[in-house]
Amino acid sequence: MLHATAGSVSTEFQVVDCRTFDEATIHLFLAPGPNPYQDTEEFLFDCEMRADEMPRFVRRSLLEFQVRSNSDGVLLLRGLPIDPGLYHVHTPLNAQRSEEKTTFASERCLSMIGSRLGHLVSYIQEKNGDLFQNLAPVKGQETIQSSGGSKMRLQFHRETVFHPYAPEYLLLFCLRPDHDRLAETTYASITHALPFLAEDDRELLFQPLYRTGIDYSFGNTQTIKGNGPVLPVLYGNRHDPFLNYDEDLMEALTPDAQAALDALKEAIASVYRGIKLDVGDLLCIDNRRTAHGRSSFTPRYDGFDRWLQRSFVVRDLGKSAGDRNPGERVIRTAF
Ligand SMILES: [Fe+2]
Repeated sequence: MLHATAGSVSTEFQVVDCRTFDEATIHLFLAPGPNPYQDTEEFLFDCEMRADEMPRFVRRSLLEFQVRSNSDGVLLLRGLPIDPGLYHVHTPLNAQRSEEKTTFASERCLSMIGSRLGHLVSYIQEKNGDLFQNLAPVKGQETIQSSGGSKMRLQFHRETVFHPYAPEYLLLFCLRPDHDRLAETTYASITHALPFLAEDDRELLFQPLYRTGIDYSFGNTQTIKGNGPVLPVLYGNRHDPFLNYDEDLMEALTPDAQAALDALKEAIASVYRGIKLDVGDLLCIDNRRTAHGRSSFTPRYDGFDRWLQRSFVVRDLGKSAGDRNPGERVIRTAF
């Protein structure tokens, strides 16, 4: 393991260097196996068994991240094996599933790494419930606060704050950076933001005084604020709390609570950091501790725009069992 310098702010975050993998380890990721879109459960089981054979330093880093997290709430696996011939595969238009990509190394990276943190799930409202979601700029959505956006900064949010079965981890695998290599995945951990908050503001943020909204991608296309549940922003340990936060969709119920939320927004703006993901990089984000976003960038819509695949991970599949069909990973909670 080594430490690297992050993008916009000089800092360090935890990196697992996978560029040193030997041939046998690379083979674990590239050897053909079940089809993730047709034999999904078989694919996931196969990946979990393969993950048992990953080098010890990778498994140790993932175990520590799962149990203890870290102050950034992110872990970057740099330079994982990629699909052969990926260079020639077009970024899928409208962020649909790629018909051209006929190998599944990226899906295997997400599943193998995800299996050490928990279990992959998806949400029926997002991209038809795909477990492996393609994120790419979508023409006409440049200014929208969603993964298809590009020319506007994607504001800080925790993934699906409003959802009763939100993922504990979010995984982003980079298949292609943007042309100008300017796009940064931004993140801000509550560990870094907390020291910037006054004691009174912290007290308020621990109270259920905040109403959040349903995401654009879950059908809130009018981006109505305050149509979700009332929650505290901070919860758990007073000195090492977890975070519910959505810069765009969350509102306070009282002026004092709003001032505390504004103070948190300012704190996040002063501590956030950015990571430029390159091909083969897989970023694990602790969704309970760290809000994320994206800088703006300029798409060209030439078939080679920025392309990420995303998966969600929960620690306990049983919690959402009532809202899933038996043997399926798709969470069908209605909104
Ligand atoms: Fe997100």
